Amino acid sequence: MISVGSVLTAYLCFNQLLKPLEELHRIFDEVSECTVLATDFFKMTEIGYDFSYSPSAPVEQHWTSGGMISMDNVTFSYPENEDKVILDDFSIGVENGAYLGVAGPSGCGKSSLIKAICRLEKTGGTITIDGAELSSLSRKAIAGIVALVPQTPFLIAGTIRENITYGLDREVSDAEVEAAAKRAYIYDYIDSLPERFDTLISEGGGNLSGGQRQRIAIARIFLRRPKILILDEATSALDNTSEKHIQAEIEKMQAEDGTTVIAIAHRLTTLKSCDRIIVLNGGKIAEDGKFDELIELGGMFSDMYYGRMR
Ligand SMILES: Nc1ncnc2c1ncn2[C@@H]1O[C@H](COP(=O)(O)OP(=O)(O)O)[C@@H](O)[C@H]1O
Ligand SMILES: [Mg+2]
Repeated sequence: MISVGSVLTAYLCFNQLLKPLEELHRIFDEVSECTVLATDFFKMTEIGYDFSYSPSAPVEQHWTSGGMISMDNVTFSYPENEDKVILDDFSIGVENGAYLGVAGPSGCGKSSLIKAICRLEKTGGTITIDGAELSSLSRKAIAGIVALVPQTPFLIAGTIRENITYGLDREVSDAEVEAAAKRAYIYDYIDSLPERFDTLISEGGGNLSGGQRQRIAIARIFLRRPKILILDEATSALDNTSEKHIQAEIEKMQAEDGTTVIAIAHRLTTLKSCDRIIVLNGGKIAEDGKFDELIELGGMFSDMYYGRMR
């Protein structure tokens, strides 16, 4: 059975699933006046109540100042396991155009933190994006400003070109698609295929390696140029050289656009250029600083960096 989590994670790749999402919203719009029907619909599909859907939430949000994120006294635990606190009175301010790194031991709640920001989990406390409270925003509105690249990106059944351009609300030229593929370090591979950008990808991207899927998802980002970019171990399946190259391209885009970037790193070296790194532990910020400062601190971050187990 497909879990609610995987459906929501699929939505989370907003730009990739914007079209079906729009369809879903259309359906919801049609049924929203009939709660009974909506309830049946969720029962039938075994999808939990979608708390993010509110008929009054504006679908079009006019973003103003940019990609500022603020979390105040956010608390969170999964309903399935309420005793385990994932975010414990957690507060952070991320300025517009900042580059925040998030580190911490496996299972400490890094991905959950991201899900909270994208409104894929319901939390206590307050989260705002660009001054707008998350609870007042529809997922579609959030998708207009936030792009997330998860560790295992979702690919659609279609050509490579369709996958790179999926969900974009504008026409893109072949030259643009090729440039994005080059920046994502996947152009040479695509170019080596007999049908190049017309090569078919199977549903879920099963005929591609994990690294190739990650590169295709990242190529989308270079076309989309989101205001807020969230990378959740987005280059974990890449070799060091490709990762460095892509990292440099992302940093270039950030410098050009003033993108707010939140990066959860698999390899801590990718966090070297961050303005700030937080180490998450026990639902709180355990360490906070720049890369060199955290190494010097000799705490969890440096232990993780030098591979010392705690
Ligand atoms: N959908 C879920 N339901 C219940 N528990 C979950 C769910 N997703 C993650 N968890 C638990 O929450 C904790 C934090 O998970 P996660 O945010 O994925 O950590 P990280 O990304 O830092 O590895 C883990 O203990 C994990 O088992
Ligand atoms: Mg994770």
